[in-house]
Parts: sequence; C-alpha cells; structure tokens
Amino acid sequence: MPSHRIIAIDGPAASGKSSVALALAQRLGFSHVNSGAMYRAVTWHVLQRSVDVHQPAAVVAAVEQSKIVCELVDSQSRILINDQDPTSHLRDDNVNRAVSIVSSIPRVRQILVPRMRECAKADNVVMEGRDIGSVVFPETPFKFYIDASPEVRVQRRRAEGQRDEIAARDRADSSRAASPLVVAPDAEVIDTSTLTIEGVVNEIMRRLKQKGLPI
Ligand code: CDP
Ligand code: CDP
Repeated sequence: MPSHRIIAIDGPAASGKSSVALALAQRLGFSHVNSGAMYRAVTWHVLQRSVDVHQPAAVVAAVEQSKIVCELVDSQSRILINDQDPTSHLRDDNVNRAVSIVSSIPRVRQILVPRMRECAKADNVVMEGRDIGSVVFPETPFKFYIDASPEVRVQRRRAEGQRDEIAARDRADSSRAASPLVVAPDAEVIDTSTLTIEGVVNEIMRRLKQKGLPI
C-alpha cells in the first residue's frame, strides 16, 4: 500500500480526464499522472521502428529492448523512451489509430503498470486512465469514473481539430481481455455531458470531502 494519496480518474475517450485530472491536481497540490500518455508514447516508439502493431511478439520485443523512464517533472508525469521525449507526437493520427491495439497486449501493460505505481511513491497523485481504479490502484478509496454521451465526446474531440475514431477505441478498450475499461464497483460515476471542467472538479472535490479527504 503506497503511503501517498491516490485519486483515480478513469473513463472513455474525451470524457475530460486530462483536463479534470490536471485542474484537480493543481487545486489539491498533487502531481498529475497521465497513464494514457505512457501507452501513447510506447505506441509512437514502436511505430517509429516500423513494427507491425498487429504482431504482439514484435511489439513486446521492441518494448522490452527499450529504456523506458517515467518521472514526475514539475508535478507532471513525463516519459522518456531511449532518452527521447515523444510528447509532441502523442496525438499523431497514427498513434490515435494504433494505441488501443498496443495497449491490449498484456506484456506491454505488465511493463508499464509498475512505472505508474512508482510515480505514486514520489508524491500524492491524481492519476487518469482506463484501469487506475480497477487494476493499478484498486485499494485507493478515491476513485472516479467520468463519462459523457458519445455525441458530446465526439464533439469535444472535433472541436480540438483531431482525427480520432473514439468510438472504435472505446470499443477496443472495453472489450479487451487485459484490464478493460470498466467502472470499478466502488467508483463514483459522474456524467459530465452538461458540466464544464470546473463544474466536474467542484463535484469531485465535494465527493472527496464526503469521503474524508482532508481538504
Ligand atoms: O485522452 P484519451 O481518452 O483519448 O486517451 P488516453 O487516455 O490518452 O489513452 C490512449 C489509449 O491508451 C486508450 O485508448 C487505451 O487504449 C490506452 N490506455 C489504457 O489501456 N490504459 C490506461 N490506463 C490508459 C490508457
Ligand atoms: O482526457 P480525455 O480524452 O478524457 O479528455 P480531455 O482531453 O480532457 O478533454 C477533451 C476536450 O473536451 C478538451 O478540449 C476539453 O477542454 C473538453 N472538455 C469540455 O469541454 N468539458 C468538459 N467537462 C471536459 C472536457
């Protein structure tokens, strides 16, 4: 059991996880860990090496041969792969298309999950993803599943000017065998369809107080 506090924020694509997790972390003075960025970074790396993402053994070999460093810098998670910082490529179209395939490979998850747990040894964290409350930190009492209607989520992504087939990604993430996107039985569910980012953060703060977080 880590000695620091962990707030888990899970949910489907464009439900507002990153915006909400960052704002919440800033309010609380916690670090913000984006686990999706880790899966995206690894995906970018294997695509760079022209690995066929439909060949799990080849993906695993490429990942196992790489030096992956996850750290907290200025209260934000950052990942370096073979000393390269992939941050500016994490939303590339080819990464959007391939990330759910790469993240469905159990060995890839087995390599990345311990890196996520390491981050929570260094600070109190708000960590966002798909399986943070269900698999990465099932013991935390502070877990949230944020959602919004498919129409609202598609609209949010479109407004960002991104080509991102979020319905296909959600289907893949929810139906895979390894750590699928699920609502943890003890997660607080919040429908954010009609809420602003600040509105969602206020609602989470209210529920955290109810759960006894001293804030
Ligand atoms: O921001 P968005 O919701 O579009 O995606 P993301 O959080 O950056 O995650 C990208 C992809 O990484 C997801 O579609 C999942 O396939 C994978 N992922 C995962 O498998 N487990 C996590 N804890 C986080 C992300
Ligand atoms: O991390 P995730 O993919 O779940 O969502 P995000 O990247 O935080 O949010 C996707 C887009 O929706 C961003 O442009 C946010 O500003 C916007 N958003 C919103 O308009 N209202 C919310 N309640 C949450 C996010």
